[in-house]
Amino acid sequence: MLGDCSPGVLRRRRSWKWTEYPPDVIPAWVAEMDFDLAEPIKDAVRQAITAGDCGYPHPIGLGEVYAGFARQRFGWAPDPGRVFAVPDVMTGIVEALQEVTPHGSGVVINPPVYPPFFFRLRLTGRAVVEAPLRRDQDGGYHLDTGALDAALSRDDVAAYLLCSPHNPTGRVWSHDDLTAVAAICARRGVVLIVDEIHAPLALPGARHIPFLSLDIDEDLARRTFTFTSASKGWNIPGLKCGLAVVSSPQAAAALERRWEALLASHLGVLATAAAFADCVPWLDAARGQLDENRALLAALLARYLPAVGYRPPEASFLAWLDCRALSPGDAAALFLDRGRVAVTPGADFGDPGRGFVRLNMGTSPELLAEIVRRMGAAADAAPGPVADE
Ligand SMILES: Cc1ncc(COP(=O)(O)O)c(C=O)c1O
Repeated sequence: MLGDCSPGVLRRRRSWKWTEYPPDVIPAWVAEMDFDLAEPIKDAVRQAITAGDCGYPHPIGLGEVYAGFARQRFGWAPDPGRVFAVPDVMTGIVEALQEVTPHGSGVVINPPVYPPFFFRLRLTGRAVVEAPLRRDQDGGYHLDTGALDAALSRDDVAAYLLCSPHNPTGRVWSHDDLTAVAAICARRGVVLIVDEIHAPLALPGARHIPFLSLDIDEDLARRTFTFTSASKGWNIPGLKCGLAVVSSPQAAAALERRWEALLASHLGVLATAAAFADCVPWLDAARGQLDENRALLAALLARYLPAVGYRPPEASFLAWLDCRALSPGDAAALFLDRGRVAVTPGADFGDPGRGFVRLNMGTSPELLAEIVRRMGAAADAAPGPVADE
């Protein structure tokens, strides 16, 4: 179902991941997987193209299809009438923020976190206010509710953008974490945006809890917007369709006022409906492969890069690697220059990411092994750490 991810075939792709670097570089950076697409998604897009059906979208039935998936996967039944197609998750987030927060106000985020959270907020005329995750001595990341509360208490702050599951740490937040967030946001009166794009990819052993499945107070529901997508789970970000899910008429009206800015791609809507309705077996095959890959990565790192710290993600296909024990300098540049592997520099995720890299392991075990072998050789070939004077 997932294909064999042979580099020869992958190099025919013309997506950003496969065209940014010269052909001798293995790309393991941007968040696209290497697996083949699910057949029902290919059929949906093929049929539309064959019929010349490439007009503007009308997402009839998308809410029902998503609600069916959410019921089966998360035991939660959102109101299909409060599920909206958006062009992509980041556009949904910034349009919602523009609608319901004042220009110039602050939005709290939890670095290390998905880089566009920084620059899309700034582009939108919002100030980024950081409440970093807390990192324990074993390398585990936690929501720091004290830091969050302090940040949300500031007069200039109007909103909180929570990443759940979290990119790049792979954390799936617990019921206790999310109820703590709900209590703080209710008390501080802020807008809450929850980015649940990685939710379909919660891996075995973890249970993703959609924020709106919690019993939150009515006032908070009025100013809560959640976003998800088939784009990560089924690997179709280029088709441009995400979902906004809300639970109050006020939040729905805010999205409806922005309808023109929130038109998704028609092919994206069709593919998304096919994904949620007909591609759950594919999703589970991908989750199974990623479960294997996260364990394989631990073994590969122990063999080739024993100085690198790694906690297997609880969701998705991104691994957050602590490279601070490697030779000084930028680890991503080292892996690229000497190993011909492209990963994402940790500093892109904010200051707490310095010295880390993010590795995309949404590929075959064979390619993952080659990636880590190359990274290990690059580190071995690098000059050793400079001793402190
Ligand atoms: C947490 C998070 N949010 C949003 C996105 C981007 O999604 P979209 O392309 O739908 O804007 C990504 C992509 O990797 C992501 O990891």
